[in-house]
Amino acid sequence: MKLFLDTGNPVEVRAAFDLGVLDGVTTNPSLIAKEKKDYRATVVEMCELGMARSGWNVSAEVLSTEFTPMLNEAHRVAAWHPSVTVKIPMTPEGVAVLSVLSKENIRTNCTLVFSVNQALLAAKAGATMVSPFLGRLDDAGNSGLLVVREIVEAYRQHGFSTQVLAASIRSPQQVADCALLGADICTLPHSVFQQLFKHPLTDAGLAKFLSDWKSAFGDRTN
Ligand code: E4P
Repeated sequence: MKLFLDTGNPVEVRAAFDLGVLDGVTTNPSLIAKEKKDYRATVVEMCELGMARSGWNVSAEVLSTEFTPMLNEAHRVAAWHPSVTVKIPMTPEGVAVLSVLSKENIRTNCTLVFSVNQALLAAKAGATMVSPFLGRLDDAGNSGLLVVREIVEAYRQHGFSTQVLAASIRSPQQVADCALLGADICTLPHSVFQQLFKHPLTDAGLAKFLSDWKSAFGDRTN
């Protein structure tokens, strides 16, 4: 499973990228607005940061909602950088735009997906990725994990190549669950990404190894 960072902050991207385990980035208008920086410059910076990694891509969302303005905006956003994936909302206009972009071989991420039927439409329109929002489904009293599992199964049964990108992640446990049920990608906030490294037994085990070594050999290292 690929790991993406869900952020509008290039500093977070650099920190995570330097660890060698990050495959890409997703942003959304709220995340970009939080940073109050130029949208295009931010996306291009995040694209450049990961260029060394094969398959690196940064999802940048369109803001238009009508078909023609959305398609035009999608073309402009796609031209910002070769690593851009254009994020299109799950609406009838969005699906029509996805259908055109897929014929033009422009990489897309269909966002704001909350059901198997929406994921089916995105796949039929040729979306490269589909983003079910797991945390927001949980917040609304549904099971986000169940919806992600059903999308993975439906795609498998019908041979769709659209990748399932589990989004709106709130905890490390959700990342593990998504990996086990076969999601292709999981995008997570930097705070959750940092928690992936942590286990109390790792910290305790390392402290004991180092103190045992120090008792026997002092500060000597290899
Ligand atoms: C996905 O691409 C979205 O940016 C994101 O995961 C939304 O998450 P939220 O529900 O935490 O805002």
